Amino acid sequence: MYQGPKDSAPHDHGPSWAIYGQAKGETQMTDWQQVEPTRDNASGKVRQVRTYTLTPGMAHLYNEGDVHAPRRSGPTRLIRIEGRNMEKVQRSTYQPA
Ligand SMILES: [Fe+2]
Repeated sequence: MYQGPKDSAPHDHGPSWAIYGQAKGETQMTDWQQVEPTRDNASGKVRQVRTYTLTPGMAHLYNEGDVHAPRRSGPTRLIRIEGRNMEKVQRSTYQPA
């Protein structure tokens, strides 16, 4: 269970896909499109594409490289499934263009 509001930065899950399943509460999800790739240690640039609400019972797939940013305004329960163990994977960072 996640408590309190939170705004996450745009990110992908590196070499993995991810599925988010909304169990309780609501998540405002924004999809971003890459306009400049990440290079060495520099952040990639992304542009906002659309924002939608995940409500209980909804699940959404983010394929490898799909950049997204979840936001919640209250308590939620969100289940995340990833295609591989991400503990040792270096994650890219993205900045709005
Ligand atoms: Fe994510």
